[in-house]
Amino acid sequence: MKGHIITLNLVLFLFFTLNAQRHNIIPAPVSFVQTDAVFLLDGPLMLNASPEIKETVGLMRQKLAANGLYISDDQKAKKSLNIEMVKKEALGSEGYQLKVDNKSITIIASESGGVFNGLQTLLQITSGSTVGGNIQGCEITDYPRFKWRGLMLDVSRHFFTVDEVKQYIDKMSEYKFNTFHWHLTDDEGWRVEIKSLPKLTEVGAWRVERAGKFGEDRAFPLPGEKPTYGGFYTQEQIKDVVAYAAARNITIVPEVDVPGHSMAALAAYPELSTKKEPKFVNPGSKFAEWYGNGKFEMLIENTLNPADEKVYEFMDKVMGELAMLFPGKYIHMGGDESYKGFWEKSKDVQAFMKKNNIKDAHELQSYFVKRVEKIVSSKGKTLIGWDEILEGGLADGAAVMSWRGLKGGIEAAKMGHDVVMSPTTYAYIDYTQGDPSVENPIYASLSLEKTYEFEPVPDGIDAKYILGGQANLWSEMVPSLPFAFYMTYPRAMAISEAVWSQKKDRDWNSFVRRVMFHFDEFDEDNIAISKAVYEPIITVYKEDLNLMVKLENNIPDSEIRYTIDNTYPVYFGNTYSAPFKVPEGLLSLRTQTFLNGKAIGRSLIIPRSELVKRVVAKK
Ligand code: ACM
Repeated sequence: MKGHIITLNLVLFLFFTLNAQRHNIIPAPVSFVQTDAVFLLDGPLMLNASPEIKETVGLMRQKLAANGLYISDDQKAKKSLNIEMVKKEALGSEGYQLKVDNKSITIIASESGGVFNGLQTLLQITSGSTVGGNIQGCEITDYPRFKWRGLMLDVSRHFFTVDEVKQYIDKMSEYKFNTFHWHLTDDEGWRVEIKSLPKLTEVGAWRVERAGKFGEDRAFPLPGEKPTYGGFYTQEQIKDVVAYAAARNITIVPEVDVPGHSMAALAAYPELSTKKEPKFVNPGSKFAEWYGNGKFEMLIENTLNPADEKVYEFMDKVMGELAMLFPGKYIHMGGDESYKGFWEKSKDVQAFMKKNNIKDAHELQSYFVKRVEKIVSSKGKTLIGWDEILEGGLADGAAVMSWRGLKGGIEAAKMGHDVVMSPTTYAYIDYTQGDPSVENPIYASLSLEKTYEFEPVPDGIDAKYILGGQANLWSEMVPSLPFAFYMTYPRAMAISEAVWSQKKDRDWNSFVRRVMFHFDEFDEDNIAISKAVYEPIITVYKEDLNLMVKLENNIPDSEIRYTIDNTYPVYFGNTYSAPFKVPEGLLSLRTQTFLNGKAIGRSLIIPRSELVKRVVAKK
């Protein structure tokens, strides 16, 4: 008898474990149990919800219909979508329960954000994971691990229109991100209308048009050349985007990057710099020498003068108008990479430092940050800045966004400040994501696999100070929305799982299987995202005098094929099993991944001469 009970328990355990895995939801929910129910998609659904929630459902009406869920006003419809607002502590403000039965789909949530997230999950489980076109029953309980789940879009280096920004926001809401960090100003353009400072957009939003590589071969503006590239958001447009985001459970954090990265502001108001010389909005011409390890020298002044009272009057106006436009708690002041050289050379700045007992440029930067923090808090907002705001002493009450690794975040959390982790090492989605032979060369690379390793809470740090995590899309090398999507996804899916799902549920094989399903969804929507994860990872090393190649990938059950004799299709080449020698000669390596006999990802073609350049020391 006892034996039978054990066997039965084992069967039940296996049943639930196996069933618990069978979904395609990203980010993975806290709990998913498949049931025997089947919801037949054979007629319209009556919507049982409050009028306010009906509006939320309305946002997704078309998407639901595309998945076979037709919401109807017919009170006699045999099926129903029920949305119940019930305060449930465990769900928090963004969690939900979702139950698919034979005749009804029910979402329970404490607040509208939870309903929104539940509807996003409903959309995911009804696109493809259906049985014979119908929906398999399930019970889901889900809530986020972190309250800050962000994506940043840089609209200065490339100007994205209101419609494009909305498309970006819409997509991120599908992955349950709740924070859109809008990088609104930089050397290459000021993008937000400030009514009391009209030149910021009359002058600062426009630059001469240049092609070529950002920061390298783009020519400086010619004398008298008309700036024709750019744009900005009027305050009406900002309010529209804020409302659009709010309806999708997304808060916008605006960033005005000061005191560095301010060339566009200084093109409008050069009197705010130390040299007070005329400036131009940078079209991406070489503006700095980079010496590695974060060390650099600015060739053109792009910093505000922290010793000039007029700068604080300027900041007061800017922050005052931002605070009126953006209802969220935080305003981001940037604070990164502010070059101190022009401050050090200015007699006025040096005299100011002496008078105020400021011993070095870091302390001067800290003085500036503290003044800005006071301005921001006087407007009822909380200041957040990149981790450089720690240098010389952090302002009371400021939150830190840690980008130069996790260390700034660790330091701030240890001092009891709130932190958002956004390290280059895991979360810089402007970096290259595939083999250099098929990608635009960008400063560094970051694979989907590495992104999936992102863990926002470092060992030994009190998790209560970690608000969450964020991925950043800088747009120096991203000149269009399609490319922004290509760079953002699927890496943002990995970030969404790091900031929403439970840490214990992190599982690469499960994740990549679900990502493949989402690839199909993007294909259907005609949005081309990166499938670089499919492609072989090539390591080249020397053994004795031989050139050796090792091929790997992280796609379960796949195989890698290759040729090294200038023949193709690669399908008929060798199946990789162990590192191999590349013979001498004018040869190319051709390689591709195959799954169930079908090619996936791009075919990589790399001449031997290029392989030689990739040689690394053998591990
Ligand atoms: C940054 O990437 N400069 C914050």
